[in-house]
Amino acid sequence: MKRFLVINGPNLNALGQREPGIYGTGTLNDLENDIKQFADSRHFQADCVQSNYEGQIIDWIHDAPRNYAGMVINPGAFTHYSYAIRDALASVHIPAIEVHLSNIHTREAFRHRSVTAPAAAGQIVGLGFKGYIYALSFLLEQQ
Ligand code: DQA
Repeated sequence: MKRFLVINGPNLNALGQREPGIYGTGTLNDLENDIKQFADSRHFQADCVQSNYEGQIIDWIHDAPRNYAGMVINPGAFTHYSYAIRDALASVHIPAIEVHLSNIHTREAFRHRSVTAPAAAGQIVGLGFKGYIYALSFLLEQQ
């Protein structure tokens, strides 16, 4: 069975309460349930993790190739300044799709730039929870 890792970064544990006008009212648990349901329906495994800590996210990326065929990552605000997460993504040979719930290009100027995206196979923004499903669907088709 194909296995993919879904990594959510800082503040995404607060989904549902956090700026609902931007991120919606669904919780991280709701998002992870949607992902699991999709994975069940398509007969693959998706493991979901979340951390507010950069080093933890880097460790997960480094370890991912041992167990997973690809990753979906929403690095949260690290997107905009973490060269360390970018380098971690560049250091592994499995594809990563970067996802953002909101359309980062229509928001504050500091969100327009992703330093991590150049190390990803692609980026999906502004499609809410569906972005994760489309990213997984793409990874599945690549295998
Ligand atoms: C986000 C966008 C980032 O700019 C922000 O810091 C987040 C969430 C998104 O999913 O839209 O934490 O990655």
